[in-house]
Amino acid sequence: MNQVGACDGHVRPATRADAPGIVWVSASSILPGEDVGFGGRMDSPFRDTSALLAAWRDPNLVQGEEVLVAEMDGRIVGCVTVEDSGRELELVNIDVPLELQGRGIGTMLVRSVEQRARAAGKQAVTLGTSRNAEGVAWKSLPWWQHLGYRVTHEEENPWTQSIGPGVREIRMRKDLPPE
Ligand SMILES: CC(C)(COP(=O)(O)OP(=O)(O)OC[C@H]1O[C@@H](n2cnc3c(N)ncnc32)[C@H](O)[C@@H]1OP(=O)(O)O)[C@@H](O)C(=O)NCCC(=O)NCCS
Repeated sequence: MNQVGACDGHVRPATRADAPGIVWVSASSILPGEDVGFGGRMDSPFRDTSALLAAWRDPNLVQGEEVLVAEMDGRIVGCVTVEDSGRELELVNIDVPLELQGRGIGTMLVRSVEQRARAAGKQAVTLGTSRNAEGVAWKSLPWWQHLGYRVTHEEENPWTQSIGPGVREIRMRKDLPPE
């Protein structure tokens, strides 16, 4: 069991039975409309339990992403998805409900992803966040930097183009030296 700071919980692969909890976590991590202009998960199966179950591939794959959950006292309190990208592991999405943020759950999820990446022999964990057309970075950027992720570059790509003109993806990376 992973224990980080004040956060007394653990991270495990998700199962189908977790779908309602995952949808709740995904729907409650930001305020309504807060991600307008930044992207988020547009048309995501994570917004709806039946859509999530329809997209689910056992044991814990959704649209090619492995789904992990943070659990405390038998309750789903966070979710992260990762995708194998060869020598690196891409952290695709992470959510902790607003009412549970700031208690170490997000850090526990990220540390677990890093442990899994290291165990799989990956060189780094990578991820992307966004910068809107006005040049404002999504609010999680300093949090990622606090966890040791550095900006490698910014780019426009099909995902940013789907959000709107002038939006950029901020690509980040944390190298994992072998232990
Ligand atoms: C980003 C997110 C997953 C973080 O989860 P969380 O559970 O609130 O994070 P934690 O409680 O583990 O973070 C606490 C740590 O981060 C630090 N921290 C918090 N906010 C910070 C900030 N804005 N800048 C720098 N450090 C910050 C705290 O000091 C603390 O550090 P410590 O462990 O060294 O004391 C959560 O806020 C969330 O779901 N946000 C909405 C969805 C989102 O933006 N996802 C990322 C998309 S790229």
